[in-house]
Amino acid sequence: MAFAIDLAKEGFNICIISRSQTKLDDAEKKILASAKGVKTMTISADLGAMTKIAEYTELTSKIAHLDIGVLITNAGTVNMGPFRDITPEDIQMVMNLDALHPLYLARTLMPQMQQRSKRSALIFTGSGFACTPMTGVVMYAASKIFCRYIYQGWNYDHANKFDVLCVEPGEVKTLLNPRGSV
Ligand SMILES: NC(=O)c1ccc[n+]([C@@H]2O[C@H](COP(=O)([O-])OP(=O)(O)OC[C@H]3O[C@@H](n4cnc5c(N)ncnc54)[C@H](OP(=O)(O)O)[C@@H]3O)[C@@H](O)[C@H]2O)c1
Repeated sequence: MAFAIDLAKEGFNICIISRSQTKLDDAEKKILASAKGVKTMTISADLGAMTKIAEYTELTSKIAHLDIGVLITNAGTVNMGPFRDITPEDIQMVMNLDALHPLYLARTLMPQMQQRSKRSALIFTGSGFACTPMTGVVMYAASKIFCRYIYQGWNYDHANKFDVLCVEPGEVKTLLNPRGSV
């Protein structure tokens, strides 16, 4: 949300994707209230249920007409506890969202971003948990380092057209982490 508001204040039009249309509507209102004149678009999609690049191609066909200068892959979730106690459904959801979505969404949008005359930016929200195997959140920590390595690689592989940033916060108080310290 903070990314969206800051970018809107800089004059970027904003498109946000998440599951809940109610949350998207609230977010859209906040963006429009903080940055007059920007255009917004919302797309409701459950990225935790998407497993194939083809599904991302279908999703991004809704924004194929847009001049996308900055892509932020920020959606994420965490499932705490011993791995053996996590349900197969939750394992798939966490891997789809935390590991695959930053890779597949970026891959489907990269060709269109590559066509821009200006440089583009890819920003991935990782986590401080990526620094080491972390008991109790093993899939989350592993997904974040998996994506960090990929985005870091792209920073070199696509240096002619893309600037790539991995943001790796510590604990932040949010819906995902209500006990966060900041
Ligand atoms: N909070 C922390 O302590 C902390 C620390 C380090 C890194 N991070 C990372 O920061 C990022 C943002 O998390 P946050 O802490 O700001 O939590 P948050 O407020 O709960 O934000 C998570 C966002 O992801 C979306 N989302 C969740 N599941 C989704 C799904 N299946 N499909 C589509 N969108 C989905 C949520 O929207 P809907 O619910 O509407 O789908 C929400 O917009 C995550 O990648 C997280 O790993 C957080």
